[in-house]
Amino acid sequence: MFKVNDNYLKLQGSYLFSNIAKKVAAFSAANPDKDIIRLGIGDVTQPLAPAIIKSLHGAVDEMADAATFRGYAPDLGYEFLRTTIMENDYKALGCDIAADEIFVSDGAKCDSGNIQEIFAIDNKIAVCDPVYPVYVDTNVMAGRTGVFDASSETWSDVIYMPCTAENNFAPELPKETPDIIYLCFPNNPTGAAITKDELQVWVDYANKVGAVIIYDAAYEAYITEENIPHTIFECEGARTCAIELRSFSKNAGFTGTRLGFTVIPKELKAGDVSLHALWARRHGTKYNGAPYIIQRAGESVYSPEGKVQIKEQIAYYMKNAKTIMEGLSSAGYTVSGGVNSPYIWLKTPDKMTSWEFFDYLLETANVVGTPGSGFGPSGEGYFRLTAFGTYENTVAAIERIKNL
Ligand code: MLT
Repeated sequence: MFKVNDNYLKLQGSYLFSNIAKKVAAFSAANPDKDIIRLGIGDVTQPLAPAIIKSLHGAVDEMADAATFRGYAPDLGYEFLRTTIMENDYKALGCDIAADEIFVSDGAKCDSGNIQEIFAIDNKIAVCDPVYPVYVDTNVMAGRTGVFDASSETWSDVIYMPCTAENNFAPELPKETPDIIYLCFPNNPTGAAITKDELQVWVDYANKVGAVIIYDAAYEAYITEENIPHTIFECEGARTCAIELRSFSKNAGFTGTRLGFTVIPKELKAGDVSLHALWARRHGTKYNGAPYIIQRAGESVYSPEGKVQIKEQIAYYMKNAKTIMEGLSSAGYTVSGGVNSPYIWLKTPDKMTSWEFFDYLLETANVVGTPGSGFGPSGEGYFRLTAFGTYENTVAAIERIKNL
């Protein structure tokens, strides 16, 4: 008789955003006349930039001609894209990353979930609290997190690093030494950012204790302030302790197109074993490469016209962020994030729990957000709104919230 991976049975409820989608669908079915504004999941609403569309069309035409048709992509990514990424995202910032240290994939969500596979089960992970749920849930699936305690909503074998108003939503070094540290800056969900000096402290710490940092920089394009690092490889010593996850979803609108990459420096080793080699082995065995047309589209993000168009799109979303921040502040809400990030983190009013506020907002303002407690226990009493809506919907949503 077959047996299931019973680690899956330990998972709590369904995936946060699936759960929200179900709730919203039920509300919508019961109230078909309501105009619901969705500022929940961080999904973009602006179309792909013209430079990207042009490149997609060109690549599709290549696929229609036997002379330029491409079959399987190289499993680690086409050279043209890896080199373009290296030059623009790393060399331009003075970071020492080689093209063959960049592994192209179909997105940062998959990579952030899959990367734990190359580590032993008895590694101890440390996560920010609140945290993007994929990091914890995929470690639960692997059997690395121990036992769930329903009263504290924590796993026995996970080190939680609370990110609260008291520490400006930036984690402190953990008391217990972890093996794997997940960091995401600019942060999802709180929208907080840390300076290069603050990130350097983590890099020094990881090198000192022999930990690896899995650094999710999916939101780096939203950084507006000086001295906030765009990549962990701006820090001294990161090549021996860090893996970086990057996405084309948020900076270039690829949520439905799917493209991302992971950077693993060759110096990053456990004893004599190179993590770069392990990830290359994993990628080669389990993955057939992101589609050619999508990688060509990714390349166009870095073209001169692509860069200009992408910048405009990010400015559009950041105008939404400002609208949300200013509107909610003027209505008396305590808000943070939204300056180097498309996420606004707000304190729920009247001591409502995160889910109570979710229901209240959905039912009375017909606005969807994300309950902070869905990201971890320290998110309780908070709520996340995304700046990825249309400007018109963002303005309308804030007007509705102000009028509650
Ligand atoms: C979010 O809303 O947190 C993100 O859109 C989720 C994701 O990127 O997978």
